[in-house]
Amino acid sequence: MKALVLSGGAGTRLRPLTHTSAKQLVPVANKPVLFYGLESIAAAGITEVGIITGDTDQEVRAAVGDGSAFGITVTYLRQEQPLGLAHAVLTAREWLGEDDFVMFLGDNFLIDGIEPVVAEFTGARPDAQILLTKVTDPSAFGVGEVDGDGKVVRLEEKPRVPRSDLALVGIYLFTPAIHEAVSSITPSRRGELEITDAIQWLIEQGRDVRSTLIDGYWKDTGTVDDLLEVNRIVLERLPARHEGTVDENSEILGRVSVGPNAEIRNSRIIGPVVIGSGARINGSTVGPFTSVAEDCQIIDSEIEYSIVLRDSRIEGVHGVEASLIGRNTQVTSAPWTPRAHRLVLGDHSTARISA
Ligand code: G1P
Repeated sequence: MKALVLSGGAGTRLRPLTHTSAKQLVPVANKPVLFYGLESIAAAGITEVGIITGDTDQEVRAAVGDGSAFGITVTYLRQEQPLGLAHAVLTAREWLGEDDFVMFLGDNFLIDGIEPVVAEFTGARPDAQILLTKVTDPSAFGVGEVDGDGKVVRLEEKPRVPRSDLALVGIYLFTPAIHEAVSSITPSRRGELEITDAIQWLIEQGRDVRSTLIDGYWKDTGTVDDLLEVNRIVLERLPARHEGTVDENSEILGRVSVGPNAEIRNSRIIGPVVIGSGARINGSTVGPFTSVAEDCQIIDSEIEYSIVLRDSRIEGVHGVEASLIGRNTQVTSAPWTPRAHRLVLGDHSTARISA
């Protein structure tokens, strides 16, 4: 069995970060979200992994390399344009050969991993198997309707009027039957070849499409709110680690992971929190539910429920919360109470300022 991991796409809902970075590489607890997926593939015993890339191909290759760090062997498959998930399967046709495969969307996060569903699929070997989970906003996803035995009756991509509250998780198990399906469908309203339509085609052909209902934690990390929430969940499980220096004027409460060469002075860190290597925290309160990446500086500030990417500096700013701060970014206070706000924001930034 192989794994096909999708790491292309534009990530428009995570702009401006995704102008310069792949959405699958945004860190959760200081580790790219894509890495959690690769680890769960390796944990399921799958070693041959194809990664579909798009415009951010170079960055994904630089981060994942040949896969040996994960115990897998990676082949990169370039999708020239983001024409849909079923188009990604077409792109990988030759590499997939006649093998069964799990298709894993690189921005999806499933806390319990994929081992049980892979075992279920290889045991029963239906033509295809999907994962469904209850959500409050089904029209944002592919939506599945199932009969009493878990057999899938109908699938629809982002329906205006959903027929159930069961969303399609971005992890699918396929036999080579999917290849005929992806070649038989036409582009959807949004101009993409939808995997949902390909699976619906299998159902219409009378093929055996089964579903597993997931009740563990799942998120598609497509938006800032989702990322902050996944960050919270991962931090809740993160083991404490004390590798940096903490001076005697600082207080560490709860589970905190401090990376090598990090320095904490005159500060309060309220876990769960992760502080990356080489970061400097001085005169600040950090946490709970906050990830500070490598080589950041947090000085005379307060920050909670946030993600700060590497090489950024926050100085003299109180009450930063529910924020996602990109790489090499400066957030500082003005030297006097300004009548005007001075902002340098990238394209598609969001800033909320008390008027
Ligand atoms: C894709 C699929 C959708 C699925 C979702 C899960 O949507 O098309 O059926 O529910 O992933 O993450 P997209 O994120 O491409 O809008």
